[in-house]
Amino acid sequence: MSEISKKWTEIIRKYQKNIYESRKDKRIEEWNKIISSLPKLYSSKAKLHEEVLVSGKWDSQEKIIARDLLLKLAPWRKGPFKVGDIFIDSEWRSHWKWKRFLGLNINLSGKTILDVGSGNGYYGFRMLGHGAEFVMCLEPNLLYLTQFKAINHFIQSNNIAMIPERIEELTFSDKCFDLIFSMGVLYHQRDPEKHMEKLRSHLKDSGRIILETLIVPEQYGEGLKTEGNYANMPNVRLVQTKRGLENLAKKSNLNILSISVPCQTTTREQRSTDWMPFRSLSKALNTQLTKTIEGFPRPERVFLILKK
Ligand SMILES: C[S@@+](CC[C@H](N)C(=O)[O-])C[C@H]1O[C@@H](n2cnc3c(N)ncnc32)[C@H](O)[C@@H]1O
Repeated sequence: MSEISKKWTEIIRKYQKNIYESRKDKRIEEWNKIISSLPKLYSSKAKLHEEVLVSGKWDSQEKIIARDLLLKLAPWRKGPFKVGDIFIDSEWRSHWKWKRFLGLNINLSGKTILDVGSGNGYYGFRMLGHGAEFVMCLEPNLLYLTQFKAINHFIQSNNIAMIPERIEELTFSDKCFDLIFSMGVLYHQRDPEKHMEKLRSHLKDSGRIILETLIVPEQYGEGLKTEGNYANMPNVRLVQTKRGLENLAKKSNLNILSISVPCQTTTREQRSTDWMPFRSLSKALNTQLTKTIEGFPRPERVFLILKK
């Protein structure tokens, strides 16, 4: 069993008072109203192992109220979540990626985990379902942070916390995490080496980094510089090749223990839904579905396990 450090406890406390702290966003007032108006789910019980599910009973009209309030927090990109009998059908079937992670056979039991770029906390909740002791989530996007608050209003776990910090902005590093996840974050970074360095600096000497990222074929040398959009995703800066990822690990003083076979994202895994009504992957591919609309290879993702 391991514990989070004093410094982390302090930072969690600071954000417990006001989760948005000094962040500015014109939606904050409305979000606060939504969170404080969420009805109670009676006799609630969370099950996080097979899915993120909170069972329980609503009073009369409260299911409708809860559904309307949760819909106001759209777009829901990661999920799904089941709350009472409300099904939050997110853009991503995130449980598919989680299943791929489980295939790596990493034991989460009793582990203290940092999830960098956690989105709304879907994976953090799944980590708890697989026995994690504590999950610390970093997510600068305030809407995803609000979705996390909404879901944890029903789950009520004290073993997970989320703060709106980028890992590069943290001014300390206590090396207290057994596992550090960075999933879907690397290709957004201006400075991938700095990102890896930062992940390393929070990791216990015996710990592991779980890096999940996009990958392109070897013909791109070190990687594909997209100069902007990739499959309609903004702010994608560099998508590495296997060689690029290997060199990045070397430069970051990390050893790759394993790298998975690339998995192509399909339009079944990522698609528009009532809870994410905007354009999704099908609109980001050419008509033959062979390339992205920018003419790049279709998105494929890999998992790497790294150690110091
Ligand atoms: C593509 S999403 C991935 C979400 C989730 N990890 C997943 O795998 O589905 C990337 C997330 O990382 C966050 N992010 C980007 N750069 C970050 C950084 N430097 N530190 C922490 N979070 C970051 C973004 O706000 C975004 O929510």
